[in-house]
Amino acid sequence: MHTTRNDHLSINAANLLETECQRYLQLHPASAQLARQSSQHFLYGVPLHWMHDWGTPTPLFVRQAHGAHFNCADGIDYTDFCLGDTGAMFGHSPEPVARALEQQARRGFTTMLPDVISPDVGTALTDQFGLPYWQLVTTATDANRFVLRWARAITGRQKLLVFDGCYHGTVDDTMVDVVDGHTVSRASLLGQNTDPGVHTVAVDFNDLAAVERELAKGDYACLLTEPALTNCGMVPALPGFIAGLRELTQRYGTLLVLDETHTISSGRGGWARNAGIEPDFVVVGKPIAGGLPAAAYGFSAALAARMQAAKDAAPPGHSGIGTTLSGNMLTLAAIHATLTEVATASAYTHMLELAATLEHGLRDALHRHDLPWCITRIGARLELQFCASAPLNARQARAAQHDTLEHAIHLFLLNRGVLLTPFHNMMLICPATSHQDISKLLNIFADCLTALTQSPRKA
Ligand SMILES: Cc1ncc(COP(=O)(O)O)c(C=O)c1O
Repeated sequence: MHTTRNDHLSINAANLLETECQRYLQLHPASAQLARQSSQHFLYGVPLHWMHDWGTPTPLFVRQAHGAHFNCADGIDYTDFCLGDTGAMFGHSPEPVARALEQQARRGFTTMLPDVISPDVGTALTDQFGLPYWQLVTTATDANRFVLRWARAITGRQKLLVFDGCYHGTVDDTMVDVVDGHTVSRASLLGQNTDPGVHTVAVDFNDLAAVERELAKGDYACLLTEPALTNCGMVPALPGFIAGLRELTQRYGTLLVLDETHTISSGRGGWARNAGIEPDFVVVGKPIAGGLPAAAYGFSAALAARMQAAKDAAPPGHSGIGTTLSGNMLTLAAIHATLTEVATASAYTHMLELAATLEHGLRDALHRHDLPWCITRIGARLELQFCASAPLNARQARAAQHDTLEHAIHLFLLNRGVLLTPFHNMMLICPATSHQDISKLLNIFADCLTALTQSPRKA
């Protein structure tokens, strides 16, 4: 049903996209010039090749970012609902973090020794996320990678269970797809020389029976998942699903790892803490240092003892876990300021209240335009999907994707000063987002829907 409607809209979306591409080029001559200059030294003209994948005719260059806004090279102000794809979920350059960095900048950046603030950072992590023991790393990718290594080391098992459509960073073991019922390497990977399908199995999210079928084999070191899939569109867990995973993993001696890198948006402390579920490991990354590279993984006291025993029993030498700059002085200062002064209960209250306002406003707009699309919200994170109700698994989420529609909506909004997350339709609220920012998005979104749903123009 929604496919037919979406296909009708495709003609308008394709026309709109063409107009918006022209408009983008007219509005952004300075970004286009910077792209030409950067191409002389950077692959695709950008420091990280992902920055080339936004769907803009040339990359959008940023001059400065503050709070919920940033300014581009052409002097245009944007309301940012992408927020660095969660890295800046607590706002750009939050004042307490900027202050802590200024102070730390005169006291040293990195020594590979623990800074005197370490005990306070540990306390802040436990106070916020609940788990008693922690290790710091540089990215959420690293956190997941290292947790998998620990899980194999302490269980003596090799296998990993994940969900179809998962993304946990560029962790080789998790870069899988399900094709004809088999778990295989993602076709898009570059330079892949191992088959993650040997040790990794992916099943459908929200399918407890499939999870139990696998775990009952007794050879899974861990099950790694987000509390809701957020990287293939959004797939929320059915009531009782994550509690069911907790119960099954305990029954079959498999460790449960919850990757809260994105669901940290749920509320202060993350999804699991708010739901009263205790995973074996929790991974938090992206915004915990206010946008500086830092991530952490937490674990129970029982696991801490098993991890220490595994390390002590291993021959001396490289553990394969850790990187040189992890836990450096500068990021410790930033984590402490973020967790104690920025990611506060009142900041979350504001974020969740505005996110609820946005959710209702978006639903109203869809209703007014008679569009069979849905909005899913996990706390301060919202997703627009081109299907009538939230998908149950990644297959349903993929079926609802529509590249032309998505591309046209993104560019229409961007050309009017509103940024959504690329690759899907994610909107994130930060403590600095205001009611005016929400109204701006809703007004422009309504104009976009009007443009998309008017009688088809000839191509
Ligand atoms: C759920 C989840 N975990 C981990 C990561 C990896 O984060 P990073 O790229 O900062 O390593 C991502 C990135 O999007 C993510 O969405």
